[in-house]
Amino acid sequence: NLIMKSAQTIGVLVPNLGNPFFSMFIRGVQETSRERHFIPLIFGANHDEKLESYYLEELIKRAVDGLIIASASITGEAIDNILKKNGIPYLLIDQNGGPSLDRVQINDAQGGKLAADHLLALGHQRIVVVMPDQPTQNLKIRVAGFKRRLADNHVDLAETAVIHSPMTKLGGYQATAAVLAQHPTAVFAVNDETALGLMRGLHEQGVRVPADISVLGYDDIDLDEYVVPKLTTIHQPVVTMGQQATGLLINRIKDQRQAAQLVDLPVNLQERESTAPLK
Ligand code: RIB
Repeated sequence: NLIMKSAQTIGVLVPNLGNPFFSMFIRGVQETSRERHFIPLIFGANHDEKLESYYLEELIKRAVDGLIIASASITGEAIDNILKKNGIPYLLIDQNGGPSLDRVQINDAQGGKLAADHLLALGHQRIVVVMPDQPTQNLKIRVAGFKRRLADNHVDLAETAVIHSPMTKLGGYQATAAVLAQHPTAVFAVNDETALGLMRGLHEQGVRVPADISVLGYDDIDLDEYVVPKLTTIHQPVVTMGQQATGLLINRIKDQRQAAQLVDLPVNLQERESTAPLK
C-alpha cells in the first residue's frame, strides 16, 4: 500500500535549534517517529511568540496528525486556544496544558535540589541564580526546588541574587556584570547555554572558574566536555524525553480516548571541573 490514509506527520516546535539540548531532543523524536512510521516536521521558533503562532497555524493548515511543542514562549492557554478547536492531539514539554494531559515530566524539583546540595556541600553560601524573567513551568519548579533546599540549610537567596537573562550563550555572556556585582562564590545557571556564555564573560573579566567562582549548569549538553574547565551540570535524559514524547503523542493519535499517559524521568548530577570547594 503506497498511499497512506493519513500522511503520518507530526509537527515539532522547539525554541532554539542552536541549543544542542534541542538537537538531542529532536534526535529522540526522529528515532521513535521512524520506528512508528511517522515523519516529523521540525521548526525552531527563536523564542519568538509570533513565529511560534505562525508555525502552529501553518502546521494545522497542512493537517499534521499531532504536535509536540517544547518550551514555548506563548502560554499553554494560548496554545490551547489555537489547537483545541482543531481537535489535533498535542503534547507540551515544560508547560502545563493540552486536552489529553499526556505528559513527559522530568523531575525538576529533584534537579534543583541536587544543584543546591552540590553547591552547599562545597561550602558555598553566596550564590547567584541566572534564569529567564518569564520562566516556563519546569523552570519555576527547578528554581523553587533549588531555593527550598538552600532555605532548609539556612541559606537565603536575596532577591537581587536572581539575575534575569535569556537562556542563550549570549544571554549568559551579557549577564556577567550583573553576576559580578553580587560578589557570589557560586552561580547556578538554569541551563548550560547560559552557563557557557557566562564562563566566557567571566574569563574576559579575569575571573577564574572555579578558583574564584564556581559555575553550575543544567542539561548536560555535549559542549560541556569541550570547554575549559569542563562544565559541572545536572544531566537531563533528553534523547529519552524526545522518544517518550513522540511515543505518547503517536499513541494518542491512534486512540484519542485512552486515559492520560504519564512518563516520569530522573535527573542526576554530572560533576566535572567548573565547581570547587569554597576557599
Ligand atoms: O536548555 C533548554 C532548557 O529549556 C532546558 O533546561 C529545558 O529543560 C528547557 O526548559
